[in-house]
Amino acid sequence: MNIMNVDYDGLIPNNVNLNGDPRVKAALEKWHPGYLDWWNDMGPDGFQESLVYLRTAVSVDPKGWAKFDYVKMPDYKWGILLAPQAEERKIPFGAHAGEKAWQEVPGEYRAMLRRLIVIQGDTEPASVEQQRFLGKTAPSLYDMRNLFQVNVEEGRHLWAMVYLLQKYFGADGREEAEALLQRRSGDEDTPRMLGAFNEETPDWLSFFMFTFFTDRDGKMQLEALAQSGFDPLSRTTRFMLTEEAHHMFVGETGVGRTIERTCQEMQKAGIEDPNDIEAVRKLGVIDLPTLQKKANLHYSLTLDLFGNEISTNAASAFHAGIKGRYREDKLDDDHKLESSTYPVTRLKDGKVVVEDVPALSALNLRLRDDYVADCQGGVSRWNKVLEKYNIKFQLKLPHVAFHRHIGEFSSVEADVDGNIVSDDVWSKKKDEYLPSTSDRDFIESLMKTEVEPGKFASWIAPPKVGIDNKPGDFEYVKIA
Ligand SMILES: [Fe+2]
Ligand SMILES: [Fe+2]
Repeated sequence: MNIMNVDYDGLIPNNVNLNGDPRVKAALEKWHPGYLDWWNDMGPDGFQESLVYLRTAVSVDPKGWAKFDYVKMPDYKWGILLAPQAEERKIPFGAHAGEKAWQEVPGEYRAMLRRLIVIQGDTEPASVEQQRFLGKTAPSLYDMRNLFQVNVEEGRHLWAMVYLLQKYFGADGREEAEALLQRRSGDEDTPRMLGAFNEETPDWLSFFMFTFFTDRDGKMQLEALAQSGFDPLSRTTRFMLTEEAHHMFVGETGVGRTIERTCQEMQKAGIEDPNDIEAVRKLGVIDLPTLQKKANLHYSLTLDLFGNEISTNAASAFHAGIKGRYREDKLDDDHKLESSTYPVTRLKDGKVVVEDVPALSALNLRLRDDYVADCQGGVSRWNKVLEKYNIKFQLKLPHVAFHRHIGEFSSVEADVDGNIVSDDVWSKKKDEYLPSTSDRDFIESLMKTEVEPGKFASWIAPPKVGIDNKPGDFEYVKIA
């Protein structure tokens, strides 16, 4: 079988020769109905019968891996696709650096690997659950289609992780695969595993911020796993990254188009002061200070996903050759890090200080630093829009100490510049930094759906180009 092309004949499209692996095939076929039940219960509410113009992966060839067509979401072909095996691939880092990459799970690292796969797997259905009501307030058919595209692909990412569990982890893998369908985002008794994936995504600005900030954490985690010495994990995550790029595109352009519309309306109305919130809101667009607060919220919640700055788990996973650094293969050092250090921003005696710590224990932070730089790129592109319209306002990422619930700064309150403040000051200033109830109410008041092809809600500009180069008035979703 040609690894580049996908076998579409069976129930589960794949390029892993499932037909030659009856045990795993049977296990996945058994899991499939439960997955569909989950999708029907927790997937996009009210649109399961609609025809959506979606891309489906039909190959893993980077030159052309997707095909576009109208599909009812429950009929989407959720397949198992691994990037092609690199010949003679070596473990790129850690104690086993230079040895042949593992094709089977190394016994001593089994528990660690399983845990990493389960945590990654848990985030995928969680975001679908968080976003399930957004279809009803979509600002256009274009945006609605993008939401559903992200949703079906997160579903496929769940399949990707479940395949690894079923194929390589026997009975416990099967149990974990079941549990992934049982947990629910925000549920009191059986929540999803990570904090940001139990938050609500109540409106479209939240959705765009989530796909910009939180899907980007996903990208960083996948990049680190793509370096893994466990080759099937590396190959799976490499292909997931291809899809993930679109999710961040949706976030970046979604926020960018929101900014653009605000600028256009401010200019038209002759409003120069971006802080004249009342005047800007009267135009039916989202004022820039509120956009900044939404960014503060989503950024700080996402930073928590990187875990403790100083972590023995991260050190063990690296040492074992299981989870690497961002672009490990492009880094020029010994890839073992046993004697190097890395600067960490810490809290010492109530003050923010930078301290060198052993590089192996600072790997969570290092990945987070790469994430921050990646976010900054997008924020700078947003600021270009503001400059283009000559609006005196710049969005910025808050300090890493701001609004944290995990790690060094979880025990204190800090303002957006990283000054530690008393609880008293924090409770007085909180609404200046994070969306207040009235900000949320205002955003919600704008969330009126627009389903006429080519039309957009008041608060967001149309995209520059269509999906799959379709014209502006293309009917991306045929609502049933
Ligand atoms: Fe994903
Ligand atoms: Fe994603």
